[in-house]
Amino acid sequence: LQEAVITGAGAYVPPRRMSNDELAGFLDTSDEWIFSKTGIHNRHIAAEDQATSDLGAAAARQALADAGLTPLDIDLILVATSSPDYNGLPSTACVVQDLLGATNAAAMDVAAVCSGFVYALETARAFARSGSARRILVIGAEIYSRVVDWSDRSTCVLFGDGAGAVVVESLPESAGNTAPRFPRARVLDSVLKSRGSDAQALVRPAGGTRRPVNPGDNFGADQFLQMDGRKVYNFAVGAIGEVIQELLTRNGLSLAELDWVIPHQANARILEAAARRLKYPVEQMYSNIAEYANTSAASIPIAMNEMAAAGMLKPGQNIITVGFGAGLTYGGNLLRT
Ligand code: ACO
Repeated sequence: LQEAVITGAGAYVPPRRMSNDELAGFLDTSDEWIFSKTGIHNRHIAAEDQATSDLGAAAARQALADAGLTPLDIDLILVATSSPDYNGLPSTACVVQDLLGATNAAAMDVAAVCSGFVYALETARAFARSGSARRILVIGAEIYSRVVDWSDRSTCVLFGDGAGAVVVESLPESAGNTAPRFPRARVLDSVLKSRGSDAQALVRPAGGTRRPVNPGDNFGADQFLQMDGRKVYNFAVGAIGEVIQELLTRNGLSLAELDWVIPHQANARILEAAARRLKYPVEQMYSNIAEYANTSAASIPIAMNEMAAAGMLKPGQNIITVGFGAGLTYGGNLLRT
């Protein structure tokens, strides 16, 4: 039997950095409010000439180099994004394929918003285990600075731009975990969940087929992300615990055997509340939200890449990723290094 193994990681975050103080220059807000409510100090903003695919391709190049592969080795590209280059056609994954010159790859987007990377990694695992793809690029890439309403202080302060990527290879189960290159982690299991009945809690109302934009229309705030912050907060705290507990129980692991949680970076307070409820040390829930804010589907692979680069991931660890977001969707992947 084949198994799915992460053999390389990469990330790209645009250099332009926007602090809370800069936001306070044009919005009625403050570093104190934003940091105390969310843990965010900065976010990075894509340049005008950058699209989501540019960020994704930059992260993917780094992941390929890390895995020792070339673009021609890849047979499937999955891009998790909810801020695509184009409105539906073509997919961002096809643009990434062209930017990389990955001409042997099939390419498609995965739309599960902030859970997108978790969903895409499980999709990659299914392809890898069945043997229908051998080397897969899984990318999370977002430019939320073009999805938020910059006059709405309750949402725009929360988000940032960036991309992360991993290479997933289909390897024989007996191959074990022998190569010294890192991060090299087996994707052992995933849980994926959706709650479409709460679709309106986090929504970009206009611009799709439900409310198409016609010449001369001005939908104002409805063109942008709108959120019931309280509802999403409460959902997220519960979702994190549910996913972790289900993955541990199903795989015969205890909380003490869980070395790291790599959560979607939406709000540091959400992580603290979830950790408290679970009785899990919050220090083992990786957080870089202070620097990047919420980069939606990109946040987990950016975090993974940072942890690997910092030497925090060591052989023999159990790691759970947890994503949650619009849909509502949530889920997680169990990795073993
Ligand atoms: N600066 C200053 N004041 C603000 C700001 C701001 N940026 N934003 C809102 N306020 C004010 C509000 O107007 C309100 O004032 P009022 O009491 O006079 O009406 C007050 O602060 C409190 O606002 P609340 O919305 O009640 O604040 P809350 O404690 O709920 O925190 C927050 C808001 C941080 C957004 C929180 O609800 C949250 O983190 N929710 C989860 C959001 C999230 O994670 N979303 C992303 C999910 S991932 C995805 O799929 C994209």
